[in-house]
Amino acid sequence: MPASVKEQFTEKEINPLASLDEWEDAVLERYPEPDTPAKPKDEYRNYDDPSRDTIREFYRLNHTHQTFDFVQEKRAEYLKFDKKQMPVWEAFNFLNQLVDDSDPDTDLDQFQHLLQTSEAIRADGHPDWMVLTGLMHDMGKVLCLFGEPQWAVVGDTFPVGCSYSDKIVYPEYFKNNPDYNKPEFNTSLGVYKQGCGLRNVDMSWGHDEYVYQMMKDHIPEEGLYMLRYHSFYAWHREGEYSYLLDDHDHKMLKWVTLFNPYDLYSKNPTPPDWKQLKGYYEDLVAKYLPETIKF
Ligand SMILES: [Fe+2]
Ligand SMILES: [Fe+2]
Repeated sequence: MPASVKEQFTEKEINPLASLDEWEDAVLERYPEPDTPAKPKDEYRNYDDPSRDTIREFYRLNHTHQTFDFVQEKRAEYLKFDKKQMPVWEAFNFLNQLVDDSDPDTDLDQFQHLLQTSEAIRADGHPDWMVLTGLMHDMGKVLCLFGEPQWAVVGDTFPVGCSYSDKIVYPEYFKNNPDYNKPEFNTSLGVYKQGCGLRNVDMSWGHDEYVYQMMKDHIPEEGLYMLRYHSFYAWHREGEYSYLLDDHDHKMLKWVTLFNPYDLYSKNPTPPDWKQLKGYYEDLVAKYLPETIKF
């Protein structure tokens, strides 16, 4: 973000969430795990809870500022991968520099979330590349460490350059987006062709696209779809944007859908026993990934 923007606004106005996890907790509330016993009423967050306002403010910023041009700018900036290079295991430490403002005792660090996701996938006997996909899926959140605001790192993703689905959470805030009134962007197809396939569609900028681009030569196609579209809830949960999809997307949807519950429902207050798991994961990373990772 340019220094001038930072000077004009307070930290809360740029980054309303106490942590990136706050967005994920809100997604979990929207899509609770099926067949779990309902929480006692008083455990549900109250609508007057100030944390709801931070989520709302987060989406207001996200929907207002994720324009087609903003996405092109960020793609040009980050997909050169000329920011940093480090061994894969150091990259996890780097990601863990993202610390929460919220309670440090109850929140697990980013690596623990990655490990819980990959361990849940492994426990269900899925192929090892999917375990690796779980382990890497949020690596793109390092964008925050390069100074990107929360609304350009997390949040439900959506296509830019065409009209917005009203199934995206808080759709009313898209009226603030400069693209909303541009005739070239505000039809259902916008700049795209019917059935062009998601690979030809630019998504709002965030950690999904960034990690996909980071991993695209190393993980099988099914895993790449999981990385690239894991926050595209309007597609994989709501079935929207069918007019942009091609046959390949239709085939890949089941993999994205398979992945999502591991991301959303594997959070557990007890961290996995890393000492016991280390050997397995070192071998797994060495099998698929190069020695260093580029940001
Ligand atoms: Fe994610
Ligand atoms: Fe995640």
